[in-house]
Amino acid sequence: MTRFYHEKVIDHYQNPRNVGSLNKNDADVGTGLVGAPACGDVMRLQIKVDEATGIIQDVKFKTFGCGSAIASSSYVTELVKGKSLDDALKIKNTIIAKELSLPPVKLHCSMLAEDAIKSAVKDYKSKRKGIKPTLGAEAAATAATAATAATA
Ligand code: FES
Repeated sequence: MTRFYHEKVIDHYQNPRNVGSLNKNDADVGTGLVGAPACGDVMRLQIKVDEATGIIQDVKFKTFGCGSAIASSSYVTELVKGKSLDDALKIKNTIIAKELSLPPVKLHCSMLAEDAIKSAVKDYKSKRKGIKPTLGAEAAATAATAATAATA
């Protein structure tokens, strides 16, 4: 492996960050599951979003694939943590490929990671449809006061 891969790929491959799973049934979790038709590799990326701020608090991945796919998913978990959903959607595979110095034949591995983020955000947003946004403490107090006034 060392002969073909950049040392950053090897680092992420040997010490992958944020491996694991989140509960896909939780309302604040979005799950992206994508595959590369060319090679059959599969990537699952999950985000846990702070419902009040829209910031990605946690992220986990599991990838069944090549070293570049594992490194791309590991690196992308570092990128998305702490970002807003909109900023996470701006992450392009070119950023991942550049950081990991992926050769052209391995670009689709980084595309898988970009697709996984998009898919996870889409899943989260589709879950949020129909769910009322969480009220902040101040807004909740105002609502409670208005409710009390209405019944008085
Ligand atoms: Fe297909 Fe890497 S060779 S994802």
